[in-house]
Amino acid sequence: MNRKVSGTTLDIRGLKKQFDNRLILNNIDLLVQRGEFLAVVGRSGSGKSTLLRLIAGLEEPSGGVIMQEGKAISGLNDAARIMFQEPRLLPWRTVFANIALGIRDQNGRTEKTARILEQVGLAGYGKQWPGVLSGGQRQRVALARALASNPRLLLLDEPLGALDALTRIEMQRLIEKLWQEQRFTALLVTHDVEEAVILADRVIMLRDGKVGMDIRIPLPRPRQRNNPLFASLVGTILDQVMASTDRQKSQTLNLVTSKTDKASS
Ligand SMILES: Nc1ncnc2c1ncn2[C@@H]1O[C@H](COP(=O)(O)OP(=O)(O)OP(=O)(O)O)[C@@H](O)[C@H]1O
Ligand SMILES: [Mg+2]
Repeated sequence: MNRKVSGTTLDIRGLKKQFDNRLILNNIDLLVQRGEFLAVVGRSGSGKSTLLRLIAGLEEPSGGVIMQEGKAISGLNDAARIMFQEPRLLPWRTVFANIALGIRDQNGRTEKTARILEQVGLAGYGKQWPGVLSGGQRQRVALARALASNPRLLLLDEPLGALDALTRIEMQRLIEKLWQEQRFTALLVTHDVEEAVILADRVIMLRDGKVGMDIRIPLPRPRQRNNPLFASLVGTILDQVMASTDRQKSQTLNLVTSKTDKASS
């Protein structure tokens, strides 16, 4: 039997991140419930990956605090695992060994690895090299590695971005199934608004370094794309993302225009 885990809570207050005098995150306030599935959308460069990296403890905040289970995160976040768009597998290790790497505790490592391989539909692939797998299968291995140690927080940074449409849908179903079984807290960064509405309990958008939109998805699971409420939620979120992109463009244009005006006056 799989050990039931409970997801972590997150309480992010006044979070700031600055790179070279540029304030990328400017006062993020965000409360994430135990076991919640949260999707993060926003235009390119809005700081989505930066937020995930801060929560993983891969970056230090420039201000504010990330509280997990009531304690401020400092250093690498042991409760979290992160998965990226590219699988980042070691080509000279077998599938089995790649997954086992995700388990720090030696106790029962082989059994845990075999179990998660089966759960991601790759039983029988343990001895293969990553190089012979398809893109979708490699992402399954990456997901298995991330989940092998039953993390309490799973951070997903556009994990399905490079997959074809059908493989994407299969992976979305797999992620939802494993989330329902393991009950970890999940944060998914995605550019695909439909994917956000298929998977998340709640969708937030980053805009101007802040949480610019926060929408609950009250649809029953599994989500049906032909539900009229599904289409209307996707439409609402898309409108907001497009509006933030247009606003950014016009801000850039204003900046360029005012610079040109100054230069010509
Ligand atoms: N280590 C770093 N040093 C300097 N600037 C950085 C660093 N990491 C991120 N940035 C900058 O912070 C901004 C936000 O980057 P981030 O990767 O978080 O955006 P994103 O929302 O994930 O974008 P995308 O959707 O394209 O992945 C960008 O302007 C980026 O250049
Ligand atoms: Mg990113």
